[in-house]
Amino acid sequence: MDYKRGQWGSNFGFLMAAVGSAVGLGNIVGFPYKMGKNGGFAFLAIYLILTALVGIVIMLGELAIGRKTGKGIMGAYLSFSKKYAWIGFLGVFAGLLILSFYCVLGGMVTRYMVGYLMQILGMEGFAGQGSNFLEYLLYDYDSMLLYFFLFMAVTVAIVMGGIDKGIEKFASVAMPALFFILLFIIVYIAFQPGAAAGYSFMFKPDFSVFSDPEIGFWGVFKAAAGQMFFSLSLGIGCMITYGSYLSKNENLQKNTIIIPLADTIIALMSGMAVMPACAAFGVAYNKGPVLLFVSLQTIFENMGTFGNLIGFMFYFLVFIASVTSSISLLELCTTFQIDLAISKGKNPNRKKISCMFALLALILGLPAALDALGSGNALIPAPFELLGYEMGGAGYAMWNDSWYDFYDLIAEGIVMPLGALSLSVLIGWVWKTEIIKNECELSGNRFIGYRYYNFCFKFVVPIILSLIFYAQLLDFFG
Ligand code: TRP
Repeated sequence: MDYKRGQWGSNFGFLMAAVGSAVGLGNIVGFPYKMGKNGGFAFLAIYLILTALVGIVIMLGELAIGRKTGKGIMGAYLSFSKKYAWIGFLGVFAGLLILSFYCVLGGMVTRYMVGYLMQILGMEGFAGQGSNFLEYLLYDYDSMLLYFFLFMAVTVAIVMGGIDKGIEKFASVAMPALFFILLFIIVYIAFQPGAAAGYSFMFKPDFSVFSDPEIGFWGVFKAAAGQMFFSLSLGIGCMITYGSYLSKNENLQKNTIIIPLADTIIALMSGMAVMPACAAFGVAYNKGPVLLFVSLQTIFENMGTFGNLIGFMFYFLVFIASVTSSISLLELCTTFQIDLAISKGKNPNRKKISCMFALLALILGLPAALDALGSGNALIPAPFELLGYEMGGAGYAMWNDSWYDFYDLIAEGIVMPLGALSLSVLIGWVWKTEIIKNECELSGNRFIGYRYYNFCFKFVVPIILSLIFYAQLLDFFG
């Protein structure tokens, strides 16, 4: 058997795919929304510090371990020892969970994109509902399922094409396009009267949120940390997987800096599109998915005829960003199974494997597509509703109640920090930072900042991750 596992065609292609994985709903919706809810500048400051101390370090660790072993998350851990298999298993499982709700949201984005396209063509795109369309759509189960399936179909079609002919090809065109569309929207919004208040909310130093009894320092810290892991696609082995397809000639350290930098720039740019728009049109920016679907639709409506075009461009951009992220999640699972087959001496069938995981994610995503994002009285009750709690009652007040939130809690709240913690402890204390250094120096350049990385792997990352778990426990019991 000589199965060719595949490789990125160029470093640029790899970067576009990796940045594409990182840039997604997390940047365009999560970032402005969490920033709006957690005190603006204070959130940004903590986010940047965490990215430097934890994000970049785990990014390097994942990419290096992936390239060193030439395997996805499960294979990578197994090549060190059988006893780490559970980390790989948790990663793939969390990836599948995220993929499932991510494609539900991606499907909704697709529906809005189609809606604006219809409006441009002179048709009624939103069933006459205007900015009430979200509520209508959430209870229109046929559409929810249709667009969920459609989004998953696009994802699986690209992953079936393989690393260089599928993912890389798509991301190399899509990501530059995304950048220019975003730039255009930012400039357009900047000229709307009243936009300036949005910028000052983002960039004027203000730490008053720390003394807010509802949020406080730990609240901001926890939100920023969760956002950073999610936005950089860390902790479940997406970057291990992408790193495993990278040639030994490429400079890992440089790539490690570029990915978080690009991700942060796009997050800031999204903030600079969304927040000034909210400020200009007087809508609140601290409201999760509602921001993406209701607030922004209100804004596009108030822009007049040009609003349809801007609306279409905006949802097209979000669509691109979410596809390049969902393919990385499906690739995580696909690579896991491909490596497993190779290790058993079998010849894996990428097409079959990716379809199988897509199907699994479709099944897992059904409740997330049919619970109306926890709005109540939906076809499928939300998790706590199922346990007999009244919607809006006490008992589950620590998080929003929907299948989407529940899956996200498992993935973002538990598996991702746990995965990152295990990786940094293993690199810092068991395998030693040398293995990262040796892997990075294969491309002929000297490893820069050994002491910094060593110190971070050993102490900084584990301590910060423990603090994250502490902040989460405070949430439950505090
Ligand atoms: N980073 C993406 C976003 O911001 C989502 C994503 C893709 C992700 N792959 C991941 C999140 C792996 C966590 C882990 O939308």
